[in-house]
Order: sequence, then structure tokens, then C-alpha cells
Amino acid sequence: MVAALLATGCDGPQSALAPASLDAARVAELFWWMVAGSAAIWLAVITIGLYAARGRPRSERAGRRLILVAGALLPTLVLGALLIYGLRLMPSAHDQEADLRIEVVGEQWWWRVRYLRDDGGPVELANEVRLPRGARAEFILSSPDVIHAFWIPSLGGKRDMIPGRITRLVLRPDRVGEYRGACAEYCGGSHALMAFPVVVMEPAEFDAWLRAQAAPARAPGEEPARRGQALFLANGCGGCHSVRGTEADGVIGPDLTHVGSRLSLGAGVLPNEPAEFARWLAHTERIKPEVRMPAYSMLAREELDAIAAYLEGLQ
Ligand code: CUA
Repeated sequence: MVAALLATGCDGPQSALAPASLDAARVAELFWWMVAGSAAIWLAVITIGLYAARGRPRSERAGRRLILVAGALLPTLVLGALLIYGLRLMPSAHDQEADLRIEVVGEQWWWRVRYLRDDGGPVELANEVRLPRGARAEFILSSPDVIHAFWIPSLGGKRDMIPGRITRLVLRPDRVGEYRGACAEYCGGSHALMAFPVVVMEPAEFDAWLRAQAAPARAPGEEPARRGQALFLANGCGGCHSVRGTEADGVIGPDLTHVGSRLSLGAGVLPNEPAEFARWLAHTERIKPEVRMPAYSMLAREELDAIAAYLEGLQ
């Protein structure tokens, strides 16, 4: 009962109890049956406890029967039923066939996201996952250094990302909407600061989005974005970041080709706005402790604003 009351607050974009896919619905269903089963056992135990403490002494035979029925038979039946029910909910082989494959690499502390396409090469982006409604998406998960766990509560269970191993997770979202994914395994100083927006779109809309993400970056048209691009290259940002279609081709940090189109900055920690972008560039370590990207606090305010204008223009 207490769990039921507490769980009424578990709505919103990052809740395993507000499922937006078949897999998440199974997890939520299993959760509620487990709650009901454990409540039944708990009630039985408490009732027997009260009976033993307050009841009048009865014959030894009655007592033995009570222990047998309520202490052994009832828990065996309830737990056995829950086990059989839980096993039936396991995904079948058919559920594991994928319509779409996405590699996600857990980095410190952000997500490298690579869409593998049948026609054309892979498309890399970061800290954002978009999925077409009704298609089974296979996530191919890995990490170069520490263990993370990839979790989109609204869409299904979590899966560890383990250095030296590839793990897989197949999800099929059924409901269009915006959700939130997070790292579910303590991985270091900014573990709590590596989230990512998840958007489930209609298939045609998704195709258009992926095509746009595959295109090279747009050249900056006006000032201060043009000066921003020159500063971006002059300060060596291209050593870590790629902006496809320019000479910036670093592979250490997030790909920035279409960073202006993303729903957040710094892996879900800041809104994607020019002022926030400039603040991020100047104070990376203050915003995200132990982050690998150095703070560019030596740049003048107006230089930071120019770089932010350039990056925000990369739609
Ligand atoms: Cu990555 Cu916790």
C-alpha cells in the first residue's frame, strides 16, 4: 500500500512505471505483481505474528497446521506463481530481431551515439537518442574505460556497459514523446551528470531527422558565427571534436556537426542556448566535476559568445 501511494508520484519522462514500450510495460506489470505478492506474504506473516502474540493458546496440532499452511505452503505458492509469471514475461527470440542498430559508447561522462545505416556510413552524434515509433532498435553498448549502465526507464530495462565487452539491448517504443535516459551505474565524479534526452518520433519524421544528421555541417553565414568558427579552429577545439565538412576532425570528444539541433548541452545538464553554451566553454569543470574538457576561461567574453554563436548555428 505504501509503495502504491509513493508510486503515484512516479510519472513523467523518466519513470519505469509510465511505460512507453512493450518491454517497459512488462517491467511495470511485473513490478506491480511483485508488490501484490509481497504484500500478501507480508500480511500473512504479520497476521500470524499478531495471532501468536495475542491469541489464546491452542492445541499443538493446530499450531503446527498453521505453520505448515501460512509459513510454508502460502509463500511457496505465491513465490512459485510469481516466478512462473516472471519467466513468461522474458522477451522471446522474435523480440530480439532489430529494424535499426545504434552503437552507444559510455564515455566519461557523456554518450557517444552512432547510428549504423544500411545505405551510407554511420552517423555519429552525442548525448541524444531518437527512435522511430514501432521499430525495434538494437543498442550495441560498450565503454572504453569504466562501467556505465544504459537506461531509458520509460522504454525498458537497463544494461551494463562493460570495458572489453559488447552488450546488447533491444527496445521497441510504442508511444511518440520525449523521455529521459540516464547512467544507472556509479562511474565516477560526474555519474549523476550524464543523462540524455530520448525522442520517439513518427517513422517519416525520424528518417528526415537522420538524413539531416548525416549531412555535413552548415558553414556559418554571418558574424559573430564566422569569427566563432575561426576561434574554434584557432584554439584547437578540432583536436578533440569533429565538425564534419570542416578541418575539425577530432574523435576524443563529442561530434559537434549538428550540436545546435540538440535538446541539451553537456549530456543533459544545460539547456541548449547560446548563453549557456558560452558558460559551459568557460566553466566546464565547475559545471561537470572531473570532466575531460578543459575550461576555456582565458578567452574573452566576446570570444566565448562568438564560439557559442557558431556552435548554436550548427543545426
Ligand atoms: Cu556513467 Cu554512471
